[in-house]
Amino acid sequence: MGWLFRFLSSSIGQKFISGLTGLFLISFLLVHLAGNLQLLNTDVEAAKTSFNAYSHFMSTNPIIRILEIGLVLGFALHIFYGLKLYFANKAARPVAYATRDANANSKWTSRSMFLSGSIILAFLILHLLNFFVKARFGGEEDMYTLVVEAFKLPYYSIFYVIAMILLGLHLNHGFQSAFQTFGLLGKKYASVIKGAGVAVAVIIPLLYAIIPLYFLLGIGGK
Ligand code: HEM
Repeated sequence: MGWLFRFLSSSIGQKFISGLTGLFLISFLLVHLAGNLQLLNTDVEAAKTSFNAYSHFMSTNPIIRILEIGLVLGFALHIFYGLKLYFANKAARPVAYATRDANANSKWTSRSMFLSGSIILAFLILHLLNFFVKARFGGEEDMYTLVVEAFKLPYYSIFYVIAMILLGLHLNHGFQSAFQTFGLLGKKYASVIKGAGVAVAVIIPLLYAIIPLYFLLGIGGK
């Protein structure tokens, strides 16, 4: 057990957990996106039926309950070690550099990851209160209508779009940084991983952002 404590208190160990949980959370984002894309079905009745059945399954299935524990743990570890790394980086040199050097750059990256991460967390809390809590504990059966009505509100949809832009920035750095920590950003794989990182950081947030815009602009949900 001693080695585990040593590993988790080292900067590389913390980066490793942060990267690993980040990749796990990306896999959640992909699955969640696949479910949510049902909202874009142009046949409104079919969209309503399939999305409500999916949502009902998500809030009642016992296997999903078990997977949820893993998801909560994934978020908790990612946030905990992300914060630990941010504060360690912040404390490393309290006086700001006058010139742009590697250290100052790493501070800027760390600060932007902290800022984007904090706004994504605020988004997540609001999102869970508005959707997840109502489906899981409020007995809401018509999640389709609830989601569509929420996205017709400009302030709500715009907040989602802003959060997705920040999610893209967070993923763009986080994805590459995770592979660098795993030692896989060498010459051989660098271009593949960089390409995959950009795809993940652009395609996932873009598809998520299209959903609120689709209803806000009145294209769907009539
Ligand atoms: C257009 C975008 C999105 C829509 C329409 C949407 C919709 C929903 C709905 C309806 C629920 C509750 C019931 C269910 O699982 O079906 C839910 C749960 C959840 N959402 Fe989202 N979501 C979106 C984006 C996101 C994003 C970007 C994240 C993460 C950053 C996220 C994280 C979660 C989590 C952690 C849960 C609870 C676990 C779960 O039920 O799967 N969602 N979402």
